[in-house]
Amino acid sequence: MPVLHVDRQDPIAVFTLNRPDKLNALNEEVFREMLEAIDAIDRTAGVRAVIVTGAGDKAFAAGADIAAMTEMSSAEAKRFADLGHRVGTALESARIPFIAAVNGFALGGGCELAMACDFIYASDKAKIGQPEVNLGVVPGFGGTQRLSRRVGAGRARELCMTGEILGAEAALRIGWVDAVVPHDQLRAHAERVAHTIASKAPLAIAAIKRTIVRGQDVALSTANELEAATFASLFGTHDQREGMRAFIEKRPPQFTGS
Ligand code: COA
Repeated sequence: MPVLHVDRQDPIAVFTLNRPDKLNALNEEVFREMLEAIDAIDRTAGVRAVIVTGAGDKAFAAGADIAAMTEMSSAEAKRFADLGHRVGTALESARIPFIAAVNGFALGGGCELAMACDFIYASDKAKIGQPEVNLGVVPGFGGTQRLSRRVGAGRARELCMTGEILGAEAALRIGWVDAVVPHDQLRAHAERVAHTIASKAPLAIAAIKRTIVRGQDVALSTANELEAATFASLFGTHDQREGMRAFIEKRPPQFTGS
């Protein structure tokens, strides 16, 4: 039984973290399957958006696998952290967007995985937190950094230092998640948005993602130059000509991804 279930429903796909008896806790196997699946799906012309969610009704992922970490040496922990970071980087550097559909607990590594996705929809039953401090450690898969960028450094310090777990509405108020959806409508909502994105020009979607992700790491002036260059690079593509001509001709555009 794979620990990551991949369901292709072109033009979208759903990745389901699949260890429900362990609340989808993230171990090396899950990360390796994630890396393979992200790489494979990003090369697939037919898939234009991916939903990431958790199996079962209780958890997106309740963190890194504590049982697997308990006796780790420092060197093993570094390798594990590096692997988790590779997953985050793969999600962010992929051409296609990943939508986190947080269907329950998103704690520790689960929360970090969601934050590496393009945006986060949370069920109204979701609970989100970085409780690693309770285990004597810190977030290791990008949590300190991505949480700071999402909610500001002060709040990130507070949340990581207290390990406080927030409900979905409280998380929404501070921008930790991007929308809260009734639990039984979460999947349908994420699918609707994924299909909307899949209907847009793929090169523009990839460019939006790349520009925003890279722009966060550099000075505003550099990020604005990147944006202008990216804007210009889309001119002359089939989809730019088609999108603008279709507007003028008052008809829906037929995007091809070229
Ligand atoms: N790693 C490994 N196993 C985990 C896990 C994790 N992060 N989170 C939950 N599990 C396992 C439990 O050990 C339990 O396994 P078992 O049935 O073999 O004993 C199973 O998942 C169900 O969890 P349980 O704790 O019984 O569910 P609950 O509803 O009582 O509590 C949580 C849910 C999320 C509050 C609780 O599981 C928890 O605190 N998990 C750890 C959260 C955490 O610290 N994450 C950060 C890790 S760095």
